[in-house]
Amino acid sequence: MAELPQKVLVARRIPEVGLDLLSGLDVEVLSEEDPPPRTALLRAVRGASGILTTLTERVDAEVLDAAGPSLEVVANMAVGYDNIDVAAAEKRGVIVTNTPGVLDETTADTAFMLMLAAARRLGEAERMVRAGRWRHWGPELLVGLDVWGKTLGIVGMGRIGQAVARRARGFGMSVLYTARSSKAEAERELGARRVHLEELLAESDFVSLHVPLTPQTHRLIGSKELRKMKSTSVLVNTARGPVVDEEALAEALAEGRIFAAGLDVYENEPGVHPKLLELENVVLAPHIGSASIETRNRMAEMAARNLLAVLRGEEPPNPVVTRR
Ligand code: DGY
Repeated sequence: MAELPQKVLVARRIPEVGLDLLSGLDVEVLSEEDPPPRTALLRAVRGASGILTTLTERVDAEVLDAAGPSLEVVANMAVGYDNIDVAAAEKRGVIVTNTPGVLDETTADTAFMLMLAAARRLGEAERMVRAGRWRHWGPELLVGLDVWGKTLGIVGMGRIGQAVARRARGFGMSVLYTARSSKAEAERELGARRVHLEELLAESDFVSLHVPLTPQTHRLIGSKELRKMKSTSVLVNTARGPVVDEEALAEALAEGRIFAAGLDVYENEPGVHPKLLELENVVLAPHIGSASIETRNRMAEMAARNLLAVLRGEEPPNPVVTRR
């Protein structure tokens, strides 16, 4: 008797290119639009050999156990995997994969977009035009800060951080960075200089965050760190929301202790701290760092290939390495 195709649960609808790759399997796409309710996820995962998730699904011991012993792989369609309990997966012999590399340049574009928008007050300007409040050109109308020629501090000089540094070079910026190890190539080719976080915060005109969310980076930027920044500086976060203490950031922005912020990620997505929503000097994007058509296609394809490889008994191209 022919073997039945393995069951694969795709938590949310992903670009067609990814779904096409899975076509030989017994695929259920759990949700077309919104993140699936937890109860639906727990029910649908039963008996699955693979789950393709996004960052909105929390995959913990409960989900892994609900899937049962058939589960071989959790393929996350994201480079970040703080939504997955990797240790719990490892304990059950389940492989976790992610999508590194393919979204670096797109996310770096987003970080730069937010830097420019926050420095040049684009959010305020747009709101003014749309509300019909723009009356004439003004010598001091919506004057912001230059980006070119300034100092950019990159916190976390991995692939995305380095992609941001390459863009900064085109803007004639000096680059400081923090990282666990020094990046010889970035130092040689981009003139980047590795410093301690304190020095980076004190010296930079722009601070852009590119660290993964771990217990060590949780609220890395809080009230103490914000007080070290220049009053003319701009903070950009395209990493993970909980890397910044949002309450402390809202206070710093409201008191003018820093000039502006550009955020793509939040502590409690899709919730945004109510104080941030009231401020003019923060540009708020809804976690769209990697949201270009080309990149989302690449991410979907990569996640599907990782999942397929494991189900075929092969080494997946992008296994997650446990950070301990
Ligand atoms: C990721 O990949 O981790 C992003 O946050 C979503 O693209």
